[in-house]
Amino acid sequence: MKLWGGRFTKPTNELVDEYTASIKFDKRLAEQDIKGSLAHVEMLSENNIISKEDAETISKGLKTVAEKIKNNEVHLSEDHEDIHMNVEKLLIDEVGPVGGKLHTGRSRNDQVALDMRIYTREATVLISQLLVDVQESLLEQAKANLDTILPGYTHLQRAQPVRFAHHLMAYVFMFQRDVERLSDSYKRVNQSPLGAGALAGTTFPIDRQYAADRLQFQGICPNSLDAVSDRDFVVEFLSNSSLISMHLSRLCEEMVQWSSAEFNFIELDDAFCTGSSMMPQKKNPDVAELVRGKTGRVYGHLISLLTMLKGLPLAYNKDMQEDKEGMFDTVDTLKGALALFAPMISTMNVKKENMYQAVIKDFSNATDLADYLVAKDIPFREAHAIVGEIVLNCIQQNKYLLDLPLSEFQQYSDFIENDIYDVLTPEAVVDARDVVGATAKSRVIEQFEQASRLIELNKEWIKVHES
Ligand code: ARG
Repeated sequence: MKLWGGRFTKPTNELVDEYTASIKFDKRLAEQDIKGSLAHVEMLSENNIISKEDAETISKGLKTVAEKIKNNEVHLSEDHEDIHMNVEKLLIDEVGPVGGKLHTGRSRNDQVALDMRIYTREATVLISQLLVDVQESLLEQAKANLDTILPGYTHLQRAQPVRFAHHLMAYVFMFQRDVERLSDSYKRVNQSPLGAGALAGTTFPIDRQYAADRLQFQGICPNSLDAVSDRDFVVEFLSNSSLISMHLSRLCEEMVQWSSAEFNFIELDDAFCTGSSMMPQKKNPDVAELVRGKTGRVYGHLISLLTMLKGLPLAYNKDMQEDKEGMFDTVDTLKGALALFAPMISTMNVKKENMYQAVIKDFSNATDLADYLVAKDIPFREAHAIVGEIVLNCIQQNKYLLDLPLSEFQQYSDFIENDIYDVLTPEAVVDARDVVGATAKSRVIEQFEQASRLIELNKEWIKVHES
């Protein structure tokens, strides 16, 4: 007999059980569910809604059920639809009919919203921690490559040289925004829906604040209809996750390119690559490719959830059960990617000389020649044209700017003097950009310092919010 079987005259069709049950996936919420129930039962007894004695029996029973689920000693059955009813059934099996008092003043609607909020809080902290690990591995590689110079690109055409450290720091700041987005949305997750009942609250004199405090919520959802209908916090988590995935995917794309024979800028450690079943010479950047490839499923979960929610009337609708699999899959997908990323970055071999050659055998110092002329009071547009002609001349002779003798430079402008050879070296070019956030050595070191401070703040936030 179903826990809600009273008003029914027939058993549920087997296919309906199979179709509507969520236990296959929401068993993942067992710990959160029991945590919420323990707080609820304590609140009930504290407010004399059930006796202290009954509350104690129920709490003890819940802890036993938790233990048994953890050790796989009990069967979670589709006959009981979801984790909430399975736990209640197991509790009643454990302690007898008094277990039936647990659900006093509560509905599965506020219960499932509570479980998802507790789960999302934990996931938010976990993903933040993994992001910090990636930030630290990037920062460490950046520090080791302060003097490594490679071409910077626009349109994937060599543009101006940059320090490899500078390039990696761009990702450190992307992941910083990701951590900040997570900690910001945490505030909106951290509100307790418990006590909203099915939709309208409850007739029992419950103390919502008491239960919320027990569960370390920062506040309580102010409207019972909203409390049971709101899945914005899941949408926000998936949206944050989509941005994280997109950032990871861009870095993956670069790692795939850099490790190709065409670029040959890095070599990923053997431990993070795989081979080919046919071509013995192959070493493939599979991890980076797969992280890039899995971005689509994370975006997909975001769109699924937004679409699922958009037509729902207040308050709870069964559709909302569909919030879970996408959420869980997103957490698993990100967890897997981020955990691999930190060591993959730390262990990659940076081919500094190849990067440098790509800068030398190129015209990425052309802007600097134009700026040199501008400093001698030639209007930038004219300087641009002069340098364009010099570059064309070089291309025709299969030479680069630093290969030209001074006499040839001077055919284009008398203002070019012998010091041009110091101005156009890769080192001089990156150091010439001495503005906040640019490539000069001191400016990149400033970024290290700023990032270190931000990473420390991230760690403090994580410490306070870890359960
Ligand atoms: N399994 C349901 C879910 O995940 C739990 C809430 C069900 N509530 C209900 N009234 N049917 O959304």
